[in-house]
Amino acid sequence: MHEISRRVVLLGGMTVSATVALPACSGTSRTKAPTFATAARLRPIAGQRVVERSVRAKATSLDLGGTTVETWAFGDTAPGPLIRATAGDLLRIRVENELPADTSVHWHGIALRNVADGVPGLTQAPIAAGSSYLYEFIAPDPGTYFYHPHVGVQLDRGLYAPLIIDDPHEPGDYDLEWVVVLDDWVDGTGRTPDDVLADLTGSSGDSSDSNSSDSMGGMDMGTMSMGGAPPFGDAGDVTYPHYLINGRLPAAPDVLRGKPGQRVRLRIINAGADTIFTVALGEHRLTITHTDGFPVQPQDTGAFYIGMGERYDALVTLGDGVFPLVAAPYGKEGQARALIRTSSGAAPDAAVHPAELDGPILEGADLQPSDASRLTAREPDSSHAVHLSGQMMPYQWAINGAPYGKNDPLMINEGDRVRLAMMNMTQMTHPMHVHGHTFALPSGLRKDTVLVKPKSSLAVDVQADNPGDWMTHCHNIYHAEAGMMIALKYRK
Ligand code: C2O
Ligand code: CU
Repeated sequence: MHEISRRVVLLGGMTVSATVALPACSGTSRTKAPTFATAARLRPIAGQRVVERSVRAKATSLDLGGTTVETWAFGDTAPGPLIRATAGDLLRIRVENELPADTSVHWHGIALRNVADGVPGLTQAPIAAGSSYLYEFIAPDPGTYFYHPHVGVQLDRGLYAPLIIDDPHEPGDYDLEWVVVLDDWVDGTGRTPDDVLADLTGSSGDSSDSNSSDSMGGMDMGTMSMGGAPPFGDAGDVTYPHYLINGRLPAAPDVLRGKPGQRVRLRIINAGADTIFTVALGEHRLTITHTDGFPVQPQDTGAFYIGMGERYDALVTLGDGVFPLVAAPYGKEGQARALIRTSSGAAPDAAVHPAELDGPILEGADLQPSDASRLTAREPDSSHAVHLSGQMMPYQWAINGAPYGKNDPLMINEGDRVRLAMMNMTQMTHPMHVHGHTFALPSGLRKDTVLVKPKSSLAVDVQADNPGDWMTHCHNIYHAEAGMMIALKYRK
């Protein structure tokens, strides 16, 4: 489990990263090499707390619980180190790149200043192997977030970690808090995520077997042709050998310990690259209180869906015993599992199937916003089509008719209420994410990542209050890398 630490680590003598040269891009080349000025330093205002951390992206081996994999991670664990701060704090995070490749870090969901958003080619030059980069930003809104690279398919390695922003005004009506990070895992099991992408796109890559029937077994050919089951249809392209909760396999799970009757806040993060999960805690009801950081009208359920990049907070009152916390991959075989233990007794079987998974399952988009989290009512000043297209063969995904780099940025004005009219022309569900902002669904629900179902439309409204160049994209990392991204730019 992640240690909950409010310790402020003061690292003296930090210098500004002067890396402005653009090294050779890894993965698909996207834009002509723009140059990026070194970000202006942020100085704390009187009374503002500074949270300083350092994060090392490196090659390492991880024990998933009886299975050891070679991978890339932040430090020597996946999930990587929890970063925790309070809303309004100034975060100074030095990222050391010890990987054999360029990288970057994106602070998913935080409405931060543009220059710290971590998108190479759009907000910064990539962090070259052997160099470091200082991210400095203020985290304005409390909530459950996470961080991950924004280069290639690196997110599908072990490079992900929780980022929690506490609310200084929150009553905190619970006894315990557990961070629960879900993941789909392939790296170090004979293929890397880059091999998976090469298999999907049919590009030669460096794996000699990329066109063999063996490697084709990595794709859900069945689901692909069948279109999948409601509500999300075909939800993923990759069959993973493992699904993890807090970096652990079901047979050697993370064990979360409490006492019967205690109230727990769960902060659940889907860090998977290609998998929607259904989450349930055996013999318990969950009360969903937040999504993507923002409070909702509390909603009871036995189970709920969580798409890639989404976060849900839930309150639960612990029963007496040993209970499975299960994340079932939507449309795929296998499951992720942790255990919640409040008394002695035998653990349920690793393959246990909580009855809650067969009852009604909450879709996040059906939640209602808390009044405080609504945008003020206002008609949009402008509306932009965001057409999602693409298919498995050839493996090409696009927004507004062209892959990222060839499509035109969405141009908006500061101060406007901007409508993004998303239209999903495909057979798949896409978790659509907007950087630097939290949009409102038609119900008023605030989110930064939303599942857009096959052959359906969803209009979301954004208050254009955070100038800069931002990414809007599908959080299926393979779709994103194969083109399903578009820039959202403020007119200067
Ligand atoms: Cu977590 Cu651009 O994404
Ligand atoms: Cu997608």
